[in-house]
Amino acid sequence: MYIRLTQENAYFETVHLKFVGQRIERSSQSTSSSSTLRYHWLVNIICTCIKVFNLASTMSSSNANKQLTVATINENMKKCRYDVRGEIYLAAVKRTQEGKEVIYTNVGNPQALGQVPITFNRQVMSLLMAPFLMDTPEVHKLFPADAIARAKLYQSKLNGGVGAYSDSRGNPYVRQEIANFISQTSGTPSSPDTIFISNGASECVRMMLYTLIRGPSDGIMVPIPQYPLYSASITLYGGELVPYYLDEENGWALDINELQRSIDAARAKGICVRAFVFINPGNPTGQCLSTENLQDLVRFCHANKLVMFADEVYQENIYNPKRPFVSSRKVLGAMAEPFRSGTELVSFHTVSKGAYGECGLRGGYMELHNINADVVDEVYKIASINLCPNVPGQIALGLMVNPPKPGDPSYSLYQQEKSSLIESLQRRARMITDAFNALEGVTCQETDGTFGFLFLLSLSFFVVCVHDHFVKFSIH
Ligand SMILES: Cc1ncc(COP(=O)(O)O)c(C=O)c1O
Repeated sequence: MYIRLTQENAYFETVHLKFVGQRIERSSQSTSSSSTLRYHWLVNIICTCIKVFNLASTMSSSNANKQLTVATINENMKKCRYDVRGEIYLAAVKRTQEGKEVIYTNVGNPQALGQVPITFNRQVMSLLMAPFLMDTPEVHKLFPADAIARAKLYQSKLNGGVGAYSDSRGNPYVRQEIANFISQTSGTPSSPDTIFISNGASECVRMMLYTLIRGPSDGIMVPIPQYPLYSASITLYGGELVPYYLDEENGWALDINELQRSIDAARAKGICVRAFVFINPGNPTGQCLSTENLQDLVRFCHANKLVMFADEVYQENIYNPKRPFVSSRKVLGAMAEPFRSGTELVSFHTVSKGAYGECGLRGGYMELHNINADVVDEVYKIASINLCPNVPGQIALGLMVNPPKPGDPSYSLYQQEKSSLIESLQRRARMITDAFNALEGVTCQETDGTFGFLFLLSLSFFVVCVHDHFVKFSIH
């Protein structure tokens, strides 16, 4: 495996690092960082000239007569940055088209890297995609009885099957399965009426950011380092990102003093801070928050009238048994009043992570807890504009939150597949952390969970963005 350290504007490889078994080595064709630095200014000048030339030729073309030009589109679109699919990604696509081998690790996309889907889930989905199979005599030879029963159950609950629109919040039966899951895992009741399914958790996040951001002086607190969905969407909707910094030296801990500093600084600039985003387990930082951390966050959000955004998509990617995942919903449910029913909490989950890695199915949900019913109705109205989330993704969610039970024919295979996947991710997390820490000038914190790794290079490099095993560097 190669990690390409690519200079931001120039797209040339400066150093190749190669995984050899458990070690990382510099490959022979490496360019030294000092020579890279020497040519950095030159490459930047060339890139700027190319950009100016491109701009001039665009302006001189027939574009002047068009309604839709880059000069006339929504300004927020142009301001919006999404590096996960930005310059480096486009450069990688170009290389792929040129026939070069590229391993895409810009996003956590496990099945693109060879992870196989969980058998039971795909059996049920296959039957729903081809419902005529359920009526053939051979079906019992090909599929276990519980997969057939489950597919028939879903078929009876989906009015028209997977090819028909569902309710705009998602199918009521699947939302009930999700509500049962939340009730069981949090120990407090959840209702399907407060659950919204969408095409991936990203869409739910964006829907709620849209709900909150009224204009440029509305601010959303976001952890730094962050997952760029938040920065990109806040910019797109014309709000203000209010950064708070995680403490790397303390395992990316979340420090209440830092939160207070951040909110005070934003308010001093006239920003109305409305929500607080936290990612638990962290991405790209990999830390799991303790019950006490979460209680502090609830108190902080309640005192400052902030809506809590709990991004809990990595809740099953747990590698450190000493730091288990604790859901914000469970912590809030066990707290006394006024916190328990006075703190607004939106929590997000997905089929893209965990052992499922079903990123392409685009199944995510959010629960709107302690949110006023009339606001929930408004969100429902906005969700209706998209008609409905894709139905196969909804089924994948139902299967995630309601897996085979002990005694079911598929139970043991399901458990075996799931635990071997999580163990394998855990092993790889350890291998990568150790390998980075073994490199001179590199420090990488232990990870409690998630797919991402963040490490810092001393010397002349500054890490801009790291996700999974992919790194984008710019050189100071
Ligand atoms: C922290 C975090 N939140 C949300 C998402 C979005 O997931 P989905 O595929 O459900 O949109 C991701 C995807 O990588 C993520 O890392």
